[in-house]
Formats: sequence, C-alpha cells, structure tokens
Amino acid sequence: MIIKNAEVVVGGGVKKADIRIEEGKIAEIAPSMEGDGVDCTGLTVLPGLIDMHVHLRDPGFEKKEDILSGSRAAVKGGFTQICCMPNTKPVTDNKVVVSYIKNRAREVNLCKVHPIGAITEGQQGNNLAAIGGMKAAGAVAISEDGKSVPSTKIMANAMQYAADFGLKCLCHCEDSSLVDGGVVHEGYYSTLTGLKGSIRAAEDIIIAREILLAESLSLPVHICHVSTYSGVQLIREAKARGVQVTAETCPHYFTLTDEVIASFDTNTKVNPPIREERDRLAIIEGLKDGTLDCIVTDHAPHHEDDKNVEYALAAFGISGLETSFALSYTQLVRGGVLTLPELAAKMSANPAQILGLEGGAVAVGASADLTIVDLNEKWTVDPAQFVSKGKNTPFAGREVYGKVRYTIVDGDIKYNS
Ligand code: DOR
Ligand code: ZN
Ligand code: ZN
Repeated sequence: MIIKNAEVVVGGGVKKADIRIEEGKIAEIAPSMEGDGVDCTGLTVLPGLIDMHVHLRDPGFEKKEDILSGSRAAVKGGFTQICCMPNTKPVTDNKVVVSYIKNRAREVNLCKVHPIGAITEGQQGNNLAAIGGMKAAGAVAISEDGKSVPSTKIMANAMQYAADFGLKCLCHCEDSSLVDGGVVHEGYYSTLTGLKGSIRAAEDIIIAREILLAESLSLPVHICHVSTYSGVQLIREAKARGVQVTAETCPHYFTLTDEVIASFDTNTKVNPPIREERDRLAIIEGLKDGTLDCIVTDHAPHHEDDKNVEYALAAFGISGLETSFALSYTQLVRGGVLTLPELAAKMSANPAQILGLEGGAVAVGASADLTIVDLNEKWTVDPAQFVSKGKNTPFAGREVYGKVRYTIVDGDIKYNS
C-alpha cells in the first residue's frame, strides 16, 4: 500500500511525501512514488496516536464499556495504541486478568491494547500486587488509578519493586482525607452551586509526595492527569533539579474551567475536578515548556444510569477517546501554543518513550501505525455519534477542527471515514 500526496509529520517537521507500507512496516518515505495507493491529498499523516490512560471497564463493568467498544472508540479517535487502567472487576492485579485483556484485545484486532496492573491487591492499599507476574503477562506499568496508595511506605515499596521489573508507577494524586467527599473544585462555583468542593492541595500533596519518593529513591515516577497550577509548578521544579518525573494532562483541563459546573451537568464531574482559569493557563504553559510530557484522555466511560442522577451522586469521568485529538488540535495548535509536530509528540512519541512502547514516529523500518487526519474539517461534537458506550462528554455541541480519516495499525486500515 502507498499513502500518496499527504503532508507527513516526520523528523520534527512536516513535509509532503508518499509512504510505502510493506508487511505492516514503513518501507519507504519519499517525495513521490510510482504505483497506485490511497490518495491523501489535503490530509496529514501523524505517527499513530497513543493514549496511555484509558478505562476500558472490561472485565466487570461491560455495561459502561468493553474491550470491543472501547477499541472502536480508540481507532475512531485516531489511537493505534492504548493503555488501560486496572480498576476493573476483578481488579487487574494479577497475570490472569492481564492475559484476559491482551487476548480479548487480540481477538477484537483493532488497536494495540496494553494493560496496566494495579499497585496493590484489589487496589485495597495493603499488599503489593503480583507485579512480576503481571509484567511477564504483558503489563506495561502499574497504577492505583481512581485513587492514591494511602500508605507512603507501601508506595515507596511499590516504586522499588516496580523498578526491579522495569515498570513505572503511574500516580493518580489525591489525598482522600482532604477530598473528604468533595465532588468539584472548591472555589466561587462550588459556593454558588452548593456542591462540595476540594482544594488543590488534595492533589498537590500527593504529587509532592510521589516526587519526593522518586527523588529520595532515585527512581522514575509518572504523575497522572495534572489539573492544578501548583501541581505544574511542583513538577517543573522537580524536573529542574533532575528528578525522574514525567506527567500528563487531559483535554478537559486545558479547555474548560469550573464555570461549567454551574449547569449542574454531571458530564462535567471528573476526578480530579475541572479547576479555574489560572489552572487552565498554567497547564497550557506546562505543555508548552515541556513540564507536561503528554496528553491522555483518561477516557472514563459511564452508563447513563451512573450520570443521570443528582450531581453529588454521579460517577466521576469523561468519555474522551473520540474528541481528544480534535480538542487538542483546536485548542493547542490552532490556538498557537504548540506546533503540529509538538502536539504529535505529546500524543505519540512521549507516551511511547515513557512506557517503553514501540512507536511514536513515522520512520522507515517502524511499524506502519499511522493516524491520517483532515485538519481543516470542522465538526460538532455529538455524543449520539460516539461508538463508545460512554456518551458522557461535557463537550456536546462544541465546534472543533481536525477529523480522523484513517487509523492504520501494522499497515491495516482499522478505521476510515
Ligand atoms: O474521573 C475519573 N474517572 N477519575 C478517575 O480517577 C477514575 C475514573 C473512572 O474510573 O471512572
Ligand atoms: Zn485517575
Ligand atoms: Zn483514570
């Protein structure tokens, strides 16, 4: 197969080129090639997008999502690889569940799915999970996502034990005693709505703890879904003094502010909560200066029954796979914050590097994992069109630019529109 006449994000720039794919690999990139192919005039080829923070809900919560529906949403969103969090039922805390996810994803045969194992058994915070066995079965990291490990001692042990197996801890940062049942960011809009808030320190204290552990132990750590200006600052300072810390944020934290909760729309309920303009601007700055390495969705699909209830009782989470690229492209590239190759790095090369996955570049010899987009196409987010079972988005009705046209995995077209 030849991809013809496209603009290609390659080697840190963008250039017009044809791409020849042979046996699932990129065989040649050249200005112009002989032979028939897929005409991509007006389209842009990106390295296959990688989302290192997704909830697939399978096993156990298939009413919310399953590996098939989540994989379909992923390829529709342009993702060729995704990593799925372990807060399943049973919890992904052993090699059997890791193997189940890998096998099911292989049957589904859409994007590459990499399981993330739990840090502790049952995510109960007491005993370390069987990390070596999970690694052997294919887990690419460990995380307690949904919460933090309460005991600092157990977290320190986890970082050391994980490092022995070449795995990183991906840290959801939340001091639950400070959150204390808060459902939104504490500020003007929590007062206005009467919804219980939680302060930035509830997130920042654990970000600081994980950074200090990584620093003391000389080990790497990755901070999940940063939402506070102060968290960005903690990570920036840690990087400056050489701590092996990497970090991610999500589109909702750089596009929305807590003003959206005034609608009482439970689709705005997410953990950590959407914060203030000051935070949103600091996150954009953090993406620009490299403090924040990657953009993830934290795709957290929920059933209508979990969201169509009063705000305080609704589930936390946003269904993000099908809007992430367009929101990021519109806000950050069209908004003049990042170049297109810089955005591609945040959504492909950097997560690959953090987790040691193959991919992240359009290069000869690499797997032909490619995302082909129409950057000029304007469209309106409509949750009724989502293929994810989770229709929970706060972006319904929003106009965005950037439509995924083809998602190609190992040379096979897995999505086309
Ligand atoms: O909003 C969230 N939803 N935050 C989390 O940490 C967990 C996630 C979920 O699993 O629904
Ligand atoms: Zn989380
Ligand atoms: Zn998550």
